[in-house]
Amino acid sequence: MNEKFKSILYKSDLTKDEVIYLFSLSDKDEIAQLYKRSDEVRKEFCGDDVHLRGIIEFSNYCEQDCLYCGLRISNDSLPRYRMTKEEILTTVIHIVKAKIKTIVLQSGEDSSYTKEFIVDVIKSIKEKYDVAITLSLGERSFEDYDAWKKAGADRYLLKHETANKKLYSAIHNKQSLDERIKHLEYLKSIGFQAGSGNIIGLPGQTIEDIADDILLCKKLINDMASFSPFIPSNDTPFHNVLKADLEMTLKTMAVARIVLKDAHIPSTTALGSLIENGREKGLEIGANVVMPNYTPNPYRQNYKIYEGKICITDDPLSCAGCLQFKIEALGRTISEDKGDSLKTK
Ligand code: 5AD
Ligand code: FES
Repeated sequence: MNEKFKSILYKSDLTKDEVIYLFSLSDKDEIAQLYKRSDEVRKEFCGDDVHLRGIIEFSNYCEQDCLYCGLRISNDSLPRYRMTKEEILTTVIHIVKAKIKTIVLQSGEDSSYTKEFIVDVIKSIKEKYDVAITLSLGERSFEDYDAWKKAGADRYLLKHETANKKLYSAIHNKQSLDERIKHLEYLKSIGFQAGSGNIIGLPGQTIEDIADDILLCKKLINDMASFSPFIPSNDTPFHNVLKADLEMTLKTMAVARIVLKDAHIPSTTALGSLIENGREKGLEIGANVVMPNYTPNPYRQNYKIYEGKICITDDPLSCAGCLQFKIEALGRTISEDKGDSLKTK
C-alpha cells in the first residue's frame, strides 16, 4: 500500500482534502482496501449488530417542490393517500410482532397532520409498546418539535440533502440550507437523536460537495447519517438525469463510516433499488442499519420517491423476514435492543 494512502485510512480525523483523495481512488486494490477499512471501523465502533427500523410511510402528500422527488407537490400524476391513526397503529402492531424496536413515522411535508395528531400517535404507541420512535416529517415549527419530544418521540431524521448552498437553493423551492441546519441544531438541542445526510449524484454536485456533506454530518454531531444514491423519478424535472454512480455511492458510504465512526448509517432502500443486493453490499462496507418497509397495501406503491423502488409490490409482512435472512447470511446479528445513538452511551 502506498504510504500516503495508508496513513489517511488509519487517521482518526480526515481533512476535506483527504476525503477527496479517497473519493478519487481508481486502483481496484486500493478501493478494496478502503472498503475493508470502513468495515473494520464499523465493527470497532458499532459491533456486528444490524439495527432494523420498521418504517411506515403514512402520507405521500407533500407541500414542497424538490426538483428530484416524486412526491413533489407539482407532480399531479401521483395518486395521493393519507393513513388514519387507526391504520398507523395497526401497522405498528405488525412491527412490534416482528420484534423490531424502532418505529419510523415518515411522510412528505404534510401540515394536515397537526401537532396534536402526531402527539396523539406518539403517546398511543409509547403507552403500549417499549419501542423507540423516529420522526421523519420534514421541516416543521420548533413548537411542533418541542411537543413531539415531550410526547416521547426519540429521534428525528431530516436530511440536509446537499451541503452546497447554491445547489440546495436551486433544487428546493422555498427552503434554504441555513434554515435546514438551524432545524437540525434545534432538534439536537432539545434532546432528539438527530440524523441528516445527502443525496449522491444530483446534477451539478461535485465530489467537493460530497466531502462537505460528510463533514457537515460530523460537525452537527449527527447520531445517524444517511447517504443515498439519486435515482430519477418520472414526472419530475430531473427525469432525464442519470442515476447515481454505484462506485461513488459506495465510496461515500465507506468514507462516511471512517469519518463518522459510531454514527448509525443505513444501507438504504435506494441503494437496494440501484443494484441487486445493494443493501447487503452497503452492510459490508460500513452500514449498520436497514429499514424494512411496513407501509401497507394499497398505499405502499404510491410512496414513489423515485422509479424502481424495491419491495413495492411485496407483502409488507414478508419484508423484515427477507431482510433478516440476508443479514444472517452475511454473518451479522440482528440487534435485540432499540439501537439508540452510540454517542449518548
Ligand atoms: N433519489 C434518491 N433519493 C431521493 N430522495 C428524494 N428523492 C430522491 C431521489 N430521486 C430522498 C431524500 C429524502 C428521502 C426521504 O428520500 O433524501 O430526504
Ligand atoms: Fe417533499 Fe421535497 S418534495 S420534501
